[in-house]
Amino acid sequence: MSGCRIHPSILSADFANLEAELHRIETADAVHVDVMDNHFVPNLTLGLPVVERIGQVSALPLDVHLMIDDVDRWAPGYADLGVQSVTFHAEAAAAPVRLARELRSRGTRAAMALRPATAVEPYLDMLPELDMLLLMTVEPGFGGQSFLDIILPKIRRARAAIDGAGLPVALQVDGGITRETILRAAEAGADVFVAGSSVYGTEDPAAAIDALRHVVAPGGSGL
Ligand code: DX5
Ligand code: ZN
Repeated sequence: MSGCRIHPSILSADFANLEAELHRIETADAVHVDVMDNHFVPNLTLGLPVVERIGQVSALPLDVHLMIDDVDRWAPGYADLGVQSVTFHAEAAAAPVRLARELRSRGTRAAMALRPATAVEPYLDMLPELDMLLLMTVEPGFGGQSFLDIILPKIRRARAAIDGAGLPVALQVDGGITRETILRAAEAGADVFVAGSSVYGTEDPAAAIDALRHVVAPGGSGL
């Protein structure tokens, strides 16, 4: 297994109390922020001004997941907020290589996401342009869905390609990550785990983060 970084998704947090909700996950590695436009996915969340405020009050780095159309136009603005990473969907990008380079040139990590039915093979030659690859383990749009085991072979193939090329590309999974499913994803080669409902749906989000880490790295900090 490659590592273990836990990125709680605030999609399952109380949107009326985001600052307090951010304080409940301070032991995490980053905050996962889901931006949805009601076009690329059938749901609407928040946009640039709210992400900017979250960045101002969060002690953790931001991992911004853009589930939006016309992403070549909008993603660079998120990079300019000084977030840790900006993830765009391959299915929404007109020029993914140009966009990844644009994001890096603005000082953020460039990440690309694939929906469950999008094959990874056509994008493997692009790995050197990326800092992180996100393989969705649910159809994007909503929290609380069940982990799709059919993505496990894709995770294995992506991990083999990353290691085979000797690239420092993180491999993130998002959707349905629980204490049960995280181990399967980790064994397949994922090393960054987004978890929404399994963190914020509990009484003690910090304990839920610890429990997820403990499953992947029983003996240590998981880092
Ligand atoms: C779904 C979002 C996820 C979501 C995950 O489209 O991208 O980040 O918050 O939620 P859970 O962990 O509940 O599946
Ligand atoms: Zn997400």
